[in-house]
Amino acid sequence: MSKFPKGFLWGGATAANQYEGGYLEGGKGLNTSDVMTAGSHTVPRRITWKNEKTGETGYTGMGFGSDMTFPEGAVPAVLENTYYPSHVATDFYHHFKEDIAYMGEMGFKTFRLSMNWARIFPNGDDDQANEEGLKFYDEVFDECKKYGIEPLVTLSHYETPLQLLINYGGWKNRKLIGFFEKYARTVFERYKGKVKYYLTFNEINIMDMAPYMGGGMMDNSDQAKAQGAHNQFVASALAVKAAHEIDPEIKVGQMLAYAPLYPYTCDPADQILQLEMSQHTLFYSDVQTGGFYPEYRLKEYERKGIVLDDTPEDYELIKNYSSDFLSFSCYGGHTLTTHKDVEGSGGNFFMGVKNPYMETNAWGWATDPACLRLACNTLYYRYRKPIWIVENGIGWSDVKEADGSVHDDYRIDYLRKNIKSMSDAINLDGVDLMGYTMWGCIDLVSAGTGEMKKRYGFVYVDMDDEGNGTLERSKKDSFEWYKKVIASDGEDLD
Ligand code: BG6
Repeated sequence: MSKFPKGFLWGGATAANQYEGGYLEGGKGLNTSDVMTAGSHTVPRRITWKNEKTGETGYTGMGFGSDMTFPEGAVPAVLENTYYPSHVATDFYHHFKEDIAYMGEMGFKTFRLSMNWARIFPNGDDDQANEEGLKFYDEVFDECKKYGIEPLVTLSHYETPLQLLINYGGWKNRKLIGFFEKYARTVFERYKGKVKYYLTFNEINIMDMAPYMGGGMMDNSDQAKAQGAHNQFVASALAVKAAHEIDPEIKVGQMLAYAPLYPYTCDPADQILQLEMSQHTLFYSDVQTGGFYPEYRLKEYERKGIVLDDTPEDYELIKNYSSDFLSFSCYGGHTLTTHKDVEGSGGNFFMGVKNPYMETNAWGWATDPACLRLACNTLYYRYRKPIWIVENGIGWSDVKEADGSVHDDYRIDYLRKNIKSMSDAINLDGVDLMGYTMWGCIDLVSAGTGEMKKRYGFVYVDMDDEGNGTLERSKKDSFEWYKKVIASDGEDLD
């Protein structure tokens, strides 16, 4: 008997800002991601800006506790002689037929990709959609269909049309709700019958840590982040409403960044820390999937003096149009403590300390197969809606040998253990899991560092950290392994 339910959606995941390229082709406008420089494990990515009047240029930080300021009159802009990883990325724009053929060969049932909002509405608030942009995704979805691959489309993955930041201040402005609803409706209508599964905002809870990536905002204040999140919740509810009106077959999911949190000690203070940190994440799913603002967050707003610009209708929408399913990313757990004398983990995005029971990769990300079973249980039994693992995988500095081969046994090992963990969630715990899309199935740019050398794929792409390379594709050892896993419906993990 197969360990995975019939129709389980095996596949891989990508995002336009890290994969698509073609940054000014086909009438596309600029996105917030197009003005982000490359960084590294130790050097943060930055946003470049220009003052058109004075000609002055410079750069600033992106949140994550870093400075986010730039002079009066300056706006985020593309500068000459600066390398921006999103501009070419790994060029899905010109390689989509080849890449989808690789996915077809592996037997993918689904392919998660994000649509580039500024390819459809170049300024975000345009009257008309850009036909050339819509046509590009028509071709992509038709190509998927050839191989029986069901697309899973993220409407906004770490990018907002840059003009929406410049003219409206990004997601803290309620006007973006209407612009997003129009974008979502345009897409649902256009791809009716071609796309059944959508996600609204990638890792919506990233707003708390990185308001530029999550909300297209140059504002790190708690007030702005709370408002940005609220506006995205309302926009997500309106997207669910629109989808159901346009085609009842469409399912719109939430996408949450999730990591189980492990208290480092049995000190009760560490358990309280775990509770409080969990609330930062679960607030986002309590609202978008659960349909209600939890009291613990409202209390926090009261304490901090945060007042939302809201309407009674917002809460009706949130309640009546919560997400159809809950998807999440999960790479490994994070370990927390109130104790000061514990070594830091070195990973990014979340604070954490080194867990002695886990190995980490060169970027400090833990290898922790238990994370998927734990995540599935917490998230499924909190809402009892179907769940979907839409990101999991391991970044590694893979080496391509002279004969073109790439031996990534560490990736196979990581995936084997993680797939076993999700099989346990299904078979031992009874979780309703819809699918699994391994992150970065074809090599792409790292979101956190902007590097190419942090590779996740089954397919290697010849591109380096400075944007040099032929973009030639080659299969890694994990390619044949994953093909076998899918063909055996998760039975053969050897
Ligand atoms: C998730 C994001 O947080 O993690 C992806 O949704 C990202 O966009 C992935 O690429 C892995 O992170 P990184 O920094 O290794 O690219």
